[in-house]
Amino acid sequence: MATSPDLPASISAALAVRLHGVSRSDAAQRSDTISKTYRAGGGSTAIRTESDALAYALARMPATYAAVIASLNALQEIRPDFAPRSLLDCGAGPGTATWACAEAFESLASFALLDANPALRALAMELARDNDRSIAYTLGDGDATIAQAPSADLVIASYVINELTDIARARLVAAMWAKTNDTLVIVEPGTPAGYARILDARTQLIEAGAHVIAPCPHDAACPLMKPDWCHFSQRLQRSRVHKQLKSAELPYEDEKFIYLAVTRMPVAQRPSRVLAQPVTTKIAITAKLCTPDGVITAIAPKRDKALYGKFRKLDWGDAVV
Ligand SMILES: C[S@@+](CC[C@H](N)C(=O)[O-])C[C@H]1O[C@@H](n2cnc3c(N)ncnc32)[C@H](O)[C@@H]1O
Repeated sequence: MATSPDLPASISAALAVRLHGVSRSDAAQRSDTISKTYRAGGGSTAIRTESDALAYALARMPATYAAVIASLNALQEIRPDFAPRSLLDCGAGPGTATWACAEAFESLASFALLDANPALRALAMELARDNDRSIAYTLGDGDATIAQAPSADLVIASYVINELTDIARARLVAAMWAKTNDTLVIVEPGTPAGYARILDARTQLIEAGAHVIAPCPHDAACPLMKPDWCHFSQRLQRSRVHKQLKSAELPYEDEKFIYLAVTRMPVAQRPSRVLAQPVTTKIAITAKLCTPDGVITAIAPKRDKALYGKFRKLDWGDAVV
């Protein structure tokens, strides 16, 4: 069964406890500064203190968690028997991808995390303690720490490679693959630049012998032609504090993301994938699909009851089996 994209109650509760006595407007201001720095290309450099780390986690963690869960759900749909024992989370921040993987894979028994940010590491350690989870979290630049890290059945980097230069990114992708016993997952913001980074990583990894599990139904070159690009969307519920910090009204948000899951063994069956929200008119449902033979526009006329019924259930990002 698919894992819920909403933060586990135990993580939300552990964050809420830390918010006691903290001014909401101060947290909102910090979160705003962190977002502006991020959007201006400054990465996570604005996260320096305990209060910054908490503001980041409250404002962004629900969405990055949801994007990771959506990526893991897609992976598990294609490889339902995958049962990793060990995880390596690169650029782990507050442990977002670690908590998502722990939720999605009960089989995980060991968790290694790497990051250069002391404030985010401290928060992750507190969240782990509050959740009775034992983690090994190494602080330091990824280049150095990954060389010493243990290899793992599942290696993940969520919202990380966008903070690196082209050269450092290619180096991290190679290093992560070298540490991957079975499966590597990379998640990025769903922007044209995020898609371009995922494409580069995809090419690099396939050249290194990797096979795509998802989202692509093949290991061939991406068939999309510029300016077309690929990304997905995951809806998540916003808590009261989440809304306050983002000055938002809606009780939900839609996180746009792009991901890549690759593995060492060829994948037996890779279904086509829905690349945009299908369009329903009075006479038909039209869906843009990435298939093993390229991108097609598939049409289910209303008169074809069986096909139409199948298409009615399709959502953006779904695998078409
Ligand atoms: C946007 S945060 C994402 C954190 C977490 N993975 C998540 O999904 O919420 C990016 C993280 O990458 C880390 N990072 C960026 N460059 C790094 C490097 N060269 N070495 C280690 N960590 C790095 C930052 O410190 C930050 O914690």
